[in-house]
Amino acid sequence: MSQNYIQWNLEKIVPGESIPAALYLQLEGRYVLYRVAGQVIDRNTFDRMEIKKVLHFFVLDTDRDKFKSWFETINQTPASPSIQSGGSASSIALKKTREEAKRKIADIFHSFHAEESITQVLETSSSLVEELTKSPLASQPLAELQSLSRGTADHSVNVSTLSVYLALNMGYSHMVILKHLAAGALLHDIGKIEALKMGETSPELYEEKLKLHPALGDEMLAKLGEASREARIIVMQHHECHDGSGYPAGLTGNKIYDLAKIVSMANVFDELVADGKGPLGDRQKHALAQLEGPLSAKFHPTKLKKVIKILSLGV
Ligand SMILES: [Fe+2]
Ligand SMILES: [Fe+2]
Repeated sequence: MSQNYIQWNLEKIVPGESIPAALYLQLEGRYVLYRVAGQVIDRNTFDRMEIKKVLHFFVLDTDRDKFKSWFETINQTPASPSIQSGGSASSIALKKTREEAKRKIADIFHSFHAEESITQVLETSSSLVEELTKSPLASQPLAELQSLSRGTADHSVNVSTLSVYLALNMGYSHMVILKHLAAGALLHDIGKIEALKMGETSPELYEEKLKLHPALGDEMLAKLGEASREARIIVMQHHECHDGSGYPAGLTGNKIYDLAKIVSMANVFDELVADGKGPLGDRQKHALAQLEGPLSAKFHPTKLKKVIKILSLGV
């Protein structure tokens, strides 16, 4: 008996979570088993698929409901009046801007004209700031500022949105500074593209190259000459830690640029959420507990305290 397959978009895959049924790829007109039920797709694989523009899988028609409820359960957002009612005008505008920013970041992944794409990313980073400054001090539900990061494009938008939101709530109000912050955060992992390409052949080589992604990103931006000096420092320092345990330079305390400190907290928070399990709200609470507990030495103590307070209002 012949089986029917339906297309299942990469967008509806949750990296790190066991898939509920088999996934197939279509190769030369034939369906080839790619992963069986219970296996996972990790975020690097997800990124590689995006780079290669493999934007969908196939699933058996009979497994459609299993995939649908799997995806919906993990993506369910905590109850919030604006989310429940479909969103307030400002949350809809923010959502659109976030989607736009994601498309632009993904363009850099695919682009042969990276320079043009970077200019466009810088433009969307300004729109992101403008949207967020419309209601800067409201305690926004985090589900509106952060979706589940599947790959680097989602993650970059989350880190940028969260960084600007945190900065606004920490008292930063200068638009120029906020725009540097948004741009640096959107571009912070841009060097991963190079690492992914270079490490195509071996996971060990990828791990080795990954350590270089802050410098690779900075080099890429220097060559293209579009991003500000401030944005490039953010890219270079986003993995530096207060206690000196970070990389590439092992900077400590106030040797780390203030805006990079904010991006570093938003970055780790979003990574923890992406690496978590279950629905978004549970992942966010767990991530906050990790920041407050085992990871606290990595961040500037007063700034971390503020960040935890701000984020806790939204979960
Ligand atoms: Fe990074
Ligand atoms: Fe990151």
